[in-house]
Amino acid sequence: MDKLLVTGPCQLNGSVEISSAKNATLPILAATILFPFPVKFVGIPDLMDVGTILKLLQSMGIKVTKNDGDVVVDATKLDNQHADYLLVKTMRASVLVLGPLLARYGVASVSLPGGCAIGARPVDIHLTGLEKMGAQIEIENGYIKAKCDKLKGAVVTFPFPSVGATENIMMAAVLAEGTTVIENAAMEPEIDDLAHFLMSQGVKIEGAGTSRITIHGMKESELKPNPKSYRVIGDRIEAATFIIAGIMSGGEVKVTGLNPDHLKFVIETLTKMGANIEVGRDFVQVKKSNRLKGTTIETLPFPGFPTDVQAQMMALMSIVDGNSIVTETIFENRFMHVPEMIRMGSKITLKGNSALIEGVEHLSGAPVMCTDLRASAALILCALIAHGQTEIQRVYHLDRGYEKIDEKLTKLGGKIQRVKG
Ligand code: EPZ
Repeated sequence: MDKLLVTGPCQLNGSVEISSAKNATLPILAATILFPFPVKFVGIPDLMDVGTILKLLQSMGIKVTKNDGDVVVDATKLDNQHADYLLVKTMRASVLVLGPLLARYGVASVSLPGGCAIGARPVDIHLTGLEKMGAQIEIENGYIKAKCDKLKGAVVTFPFPSVGATENIMMAAVLAEGTTVIENAAMEPEIDDLAHFLMSQGVKIEGAGTSRITIHGMKESELKPNPKSYRVIGDRIEAATFIIAGIMSGGEVKVTGLNPDHLKFVIETLTKMGANIEVGRDFVQVKKSNRLKGTTIETLPFPGFPTDVQAQMMALMSIVDGNSIVTETIFENRFMHVPEMIRMGSKITLKGNSALIEGVEHLSGAPVMCTDLRASAALILCALIAHGQTEIQRVYHLDRGYEKIDEKLTKLGGKIQRVKG
């Protein structure tokens, strides 16, 4: 297992281009199952999770050709509708093939994703929505066995604006008979990008990015190939990670390739803490500022504060003036970075789903371990500004969702060495 040796403190300066969003790329690649013709993409990020979903598509007989970020997915013919446990257990988002498989073939057997480090993460909202559209679903030996004659459009009201469930129902609705309305839909930018991709292939959708999405079902023969390649939106979570890295290091970092509207609340929060941030059309410029002061945040569905930036915020809060409080309302176990950060000198007290962070002068290098994707990012941020060397183990968590983050940070002035393990 690779590890990273990071020497701090360092100051980051320069410009970094953000990769395409992991959490938009995964549902969009799953959606190619719907189309009986090749679909072309540019700028697909080189991430472990992307590799996993492409392997999953290929395991069903789908043809994938890759040339760096240029990817063509040809789902003209599938020879099975099975998503195996061995692939699904490494990446929960594999459950997103369920909706498109049912919509096109009326049958699917998809391994239950199982829990992951940050929580149980059931898929009951996905399954209830598909049943509302006429799917019969059984759970057998850890697999979701689903079938239907033909999915029917329905009004599907979510108890919680689940990102994955919104994506699964949207994709299922594309080839359902009639119109589907999703109420209390998730509004994350990645949902909007999935809708944008589907519409680029001729699908009629209204309301994406709002809490009420209408999808007009079509026949497979009505879907038309789009000669243009599709480029997924910039990764707002990666962007937030670099913005916070720039602020923590006291340098001047320009983060490009994103839509800053996707980070409004994060930018507002950082500015309120005293960060000096200039926002452009497709970039965010971090400038030098005085020492920041603590604040209070609560993670919420979009447009609230994103749970995927919670750990990185706690890294920043560890070294600002005064106290901060973080409340995690989306996942039940998303504080696993805390014990590792405490080893580096953070002063954090946990109480239920809240954390009290008391700002300290500086952190100190220490051996630490990654536990999940965003926790790993927080540890890198701490290591960049800690005094001394930090050894970060199990960086495969990081490689799942950040494209060449060590190279990008090194270009900005970070002292990071990857030790192949
Ligand atoms: C997506 O996960 C993202 N993953 C997550 O990013 C992100 O943290 C999350 O949305 C929230 O924004 C991808 O897009 C691949 P949810 P997802 O369904 O779809 C509960 C990262 O770091 N729930 O909105 O799984 C669930 O347990 C990852 O990039 C049910 O109870 O998120 C959780 O507590 C981590 N039943 C909450 O809802 C369901 O059927 C949010 O889940 C579905 C979800």
